[in-house]
Amino acid sequence: MTQQQTAGGDVRLTGISKTYGSFTAVHPLDLTVPQGSFFALLGASGCGKTTTLRMIAGLEEATTGTVSLGGRDITDLPPYKRPVNTVFQSYALFPHLDVSENIAFGLRRRGIKSVKKQVGEMLDLVQLGDFARRKPHRLSGGQQQRVAVARALINHPQVLLLDEPLGALDLKLRRQMQLELKRIQTEVGITFVHVTHDQEEAMTMADTVAVMNGGRVEQLGAPADLYENPRTTFVANFLGTSNLIEGEIVSTGTDVVVSAGGGELRLPVGRCPSPARSGEKLLVGVRPEKISLTHTDDADAIPDGRNRVTGRITDSSFIGVSTQYVVESPAGASLQVYEQNIERDSRLAAGADVVLHWNPEHTFGLDAAQSINAGADGLEDVA
Ligand SMILES: Nc1ncnc2c1ncn2[C@@H]1O[C@H](COP(=O)(O)OP(=O)(O)OP(=O)(O)O)[C@@H](O)[C@H]1O
Ligand SMILES: [Mg+2]
Repeated sequence: MTQQQTAGGDVRLTGISKTYGSFTAVHPLDLTVPQGSFFALLGASGCGKTTTLRMIAGLEEATTGTVSLGGRDITDLPPYKRPVNTVFQSYALFPHLDVSENIAFGLRRRGIKSVKKQVGEMLDLVQLGDFARRKPHRLSGGQQQRVAVARALINHPQVLLLDEPLGALDLKLRRQMQLELKRIQTEVGITFVHVTHDQEEAMTMADTVAVMNGGRVEQLGAPADLYENPRTTFVANFLGTSNLIEGEIVSTGTDVVVSAGGGELRLPVGRCPSPARSGEKLLVGVRPEKISLTHTDDADAIPDGRNRVTGRITDSSFIGVSTQYVVESPAGASLQVYEQNIERDSRLAAGADVVLHWNPEHTFGLDAAQSINAGADGLEDVA
């Protein structure tokens, strides 16, 4: 190996695409995954996540574009020559080998005889020291998954690709393993590219999330940034829940004022697609947890300067930390409101007339020339 090959570095995809006949699974894509980062590819089924990952691994030939690692073009390298390992959803452990031997497999294949020390380190890393002599069928799903990660990491890849590695686990175990994988990544410092269709999983684990839709990356950023500042309706709806209200801009300045649902709503101009011009349509967005609910009888107590919309509660579900309300409103078909359970107003039940109000700064604006429901049903948008 040359110096450059061992040096590590960013994964860079340049104009990479994949077509199958007349169908484009991945449109030309430019993407940089910084060295040592935990990067998530998030999107609904069929949006091209696995295809993208397989092109990085070399398991799928790119139709156009290049893949480079640390500045070195690896597009034409076969998978086994790339310093990349993949963990799949089905862990594909060797059933006749115990945990230690499964983990040692990659070293043995390369003819390395003394594996004990490295295997021991890997067992410690994934906290399976007590299970070294167990066969896979006597392990839980989460334990098997950790063996699969250890088996990949023992090869010291520069990049670990994970394709829905937690898909087979039940919800509670998934949550545990998310934290576990994050800990392992922090400890080894290797670049992880993690594919998932679970937005909570992507947000919990990743430093950077690329949201894919119909073979394209719609938006890329830190989880909190994507959540607070979605730029498309797909991202707004797919990443958590958003209330989107159709309106028309009536004036612009530091704040943009929008007429919507028989009233006016404000938002900072910096949170609107620019340029914001009077007379144009705008989708006004606000997250459910940013909204407060006040019974109409107490509407006078709502401080000035807040955005307000009237409505009637049609449904409420108590879920412990919060109560989730559905409110029918002239502003939008059904608005979602999450109220923390601190002091519950017993009048806030189905049938109650309410005012929804929130800080204008917590409002975002989206281009109205997109489908308001994109990403809301968990299905991909047609490309
Ligand atoms: N070998 C193939 N031939 C034709 N079409 C394919 C092939 N492999 C994948 N596709 C299509 O490419 C698109 C992207 O597939 P891909 O497996 O990348 O999706 P994904 O985002 O990983 O979805 P999932 O979450 O369901 O795993 C899909 O519409 C799929 O049907
Ligand atoms: Mg897939």
